[in-house]
Amino acid sequence: MFDMVQKKQISPVFNPRKSIVVYHGDCLELLNTVPEGLVQLIITSPPYNLGKEYEKKLKLSQYLEQQEAVITECVRVLSDNGSICWQVGNYVDKGTIIPLDTVLYPIFIKLGLQLRNRIIWHFEHGLHCSKRFSGRYETIIWFTKSNDYVFNLDPIRVPQKYPGKKHFKGPNAGQFSCNPLGKNPGDLWVIPNVKSNHVEKTIHPCQFPVELIERFVLSMSKEADWVFDPFLGTGTTAIAAVRHKRKSMGAEIHQKYIEIIHARIEKELDGTLRTRPMFKPVFKPEDAGSSLTTAPWKNADLEQQVSLYKDRKEV
Ligand SMILES: C[S@@+](CC[C@H](N)C(=O)[O-])C[C@H]1O[C@@H](n2cnc3c(N)ncnc32)[C@H](O)[C@@H]1O
Repeated sequence: MFDMVQKKQISPVFNPRKSIVVYHGDCLELLNTVPEGLVQLIITSPPYNLGKEYEKKLKLSQYLEQQEAVITECVRVLSDNGSICWQVGNYVDKGTIIPLDTVLYPIFIKLGLQLRNRIIWHFEHGLHCSKRFSGRYETIIWFTKSNDYVFNLDPIRVPQKYPGKKHFKGPNAGQFSCNPLGKNPGDLWVIPNVKSNHVEKTIHPCQFPVELIERFVLSMSKEADWVFDPFLGTGTTAIAAVRHKRKSMGAEIHQKYIEIIHARIEKELDGTLRTRPMFKPVFKPEDAGSSLTTAPWKNADLEQQVSLYKDRKEV
């Protein structure tokens, strides 16, 4: 039985008797110590090779070689009915984009994995591009090791748009047609990203929202299963795992993020970590009655506003 008290001890190295492992160092070093087939769910967002503060920009071929080494080890530690979910965006090279899931896909296939979904994570805010459409989604590619895999839809069902709908013909005519627990959330998820005033924001530039990971944890693992993230960042995967009584393991190479991971896990265990709740509808400024949702310029002022906008500094 999963022991809640045991959870309080965060182990710095893999230890089968502990429930939380946070390794400070290269994820391959941690993976080398983990037994084959132990982990039920692997969910991560690796570096995208964009030259962010926590990564050194590499040639795409070198980046893919590094990713392949980590993915190969992840597949070794994954259980036969387990899942592996890789969350990525675009690699940008002199203004052209390469969607990373398209170049990582062959690695997973070569290792014998089966693609179950390519989930589009749509967020509404981000940098504004001037030479292409602004990027407003990233993808999560979900693979399983076999056809016999854990997938439990009920904890992550979402409300139907028209729950009062009835069958209009056939033997069930007149009866309500919807599942009272809600519907399958589909493969397009609208969840705000962790930017500026998001309640979960830390100093890390690329944080997952906890609610995004909760969906994977709840549907693809059971209580007391191991959930693994090779690139922990601020430990979002660990938070979602601990919250739902899973064992959590992961690595992070930078000390300053290790400190954030510890602080967040401790707050989660105390019940004081503030997160955006799962299933909270996306904020609509119009519904909140904000006056900023109405453009203040009339036809006469429009030209002046356009020229102000054109003259602004690019960021
Ligand atoms: C995209 S971020 C992950 C953010 C994370 N999903 C979160 O919610 O905070 C990738 C992280 O991987 C870390 N990292 C890069 N190379 C690593 C390696 N070889 N082993 C472990 N961590 C690494 C980086 O320092 C960075 O924090």
